[in-house]
Amino acid sequence: MAVVHVASFAPTTEQAREFCALLEAGDILYFPRTPVPLAADDAAFLLGQQQTDSSLHKNIAYKPKVDKLSGVDTKTASPAAVERLHTVMRRYSQSVVAFLAEFLAPYQANWQLDYASFRPQEEQGRDLPLRRRNDLLHTDAFPTRPTHGARILRFFNNIHPSRTRDWVVSDPFAATVRQFAPQQIAPHPGSALSRLGKGAARAIGLGAAIPSLRRSPYDDFMMRFHNFLKENPQWQTECAKYPFQFPAGSSWMVYTDTVPHAVLAGQYALEQTFLVRPEAMVRPEVSPLKVLEEIAHAPLV
Ligand SMILES: [Fe+2]
Repeated sequence: MAVVHVASFAPTTEQAREFCALLEAGDILYFPRTPVPLAADDAAFLLGQQQTDSSLHKNIAYKPKVDKLSGVDTKTASPAAVERLHTVMRRYSQSVVAFLAEFLAPYQANWQLDYASFRPQEEQGRDLPLRRRNDLLHTDAFPTRPTHGARILRFFNNIHPSRTRDWVVSDPFAATVRQFAPQQIAPHPGSALSRLGKGAARAIGLGAAIPSLRRSPYDDFMMRFHNFLKENPQWQTECAKYPFQFPAGSSWMVYTDTVPHAVLAGQYALEQTFLVRPEAMVRPEVSPLKVLEEIAHAPLV
């Protein structure tokens, strides 16, 4: 795996396909200078936001499809500040979408726009329950938003004025998953679509499981694998580790369901997530879905 420096923001069709192929294989595309800079007053506003460390919300989320903001600590933010935050997040989300619609043109017709987030808290030394910790290597899976084989592509901005955002990554999914004996991690191809348990539904504030929470065997596996990696101290200690420090003002993009990642330090980041459908893959054979189906000898979605 590699960090690929991107200097030109306007690739040819062929270069755009190559960028998709690199991402799918587990490389990180890195923009030393972000292609989606914030207006100076928007950046200053975000840097002025303080969020008390709540175990309820890891981040402030913006949901572009319904134009809603969540996770804001209303004890410390005035209604005017919430409104401003909403506007800044909407603008950020739109600017990332506009950029990637060109930059990753092969995906554009086949992605679903997911949440954007603002991460105002210092990552070093955060006190979070183990499965929610950001400083343990993991591949991403969403407990409440099954993807049914679509892949989780995330675009980040380090908007801190001076500090780096310090990541560690490990070998991509295909190599990592094969380090474990099948019985440790086996996908369950035979299981019918499963529902989120009542307890989990209650924990996220829903009275009962709702149809959109139906997971495929693929989603089940990806969620269990996320937890399995975080709960495996031996693997956390012994796995290959590649540290990267993303400078202030930079952006990067990565399939976070494919590349095990952890953030060790840094404060103030923005992020926009896309769910890219399997049919858009330039190299489907390295996707977690295809790798798992090969291991399971069965379809998983
Ligand atoms: Fe993550």
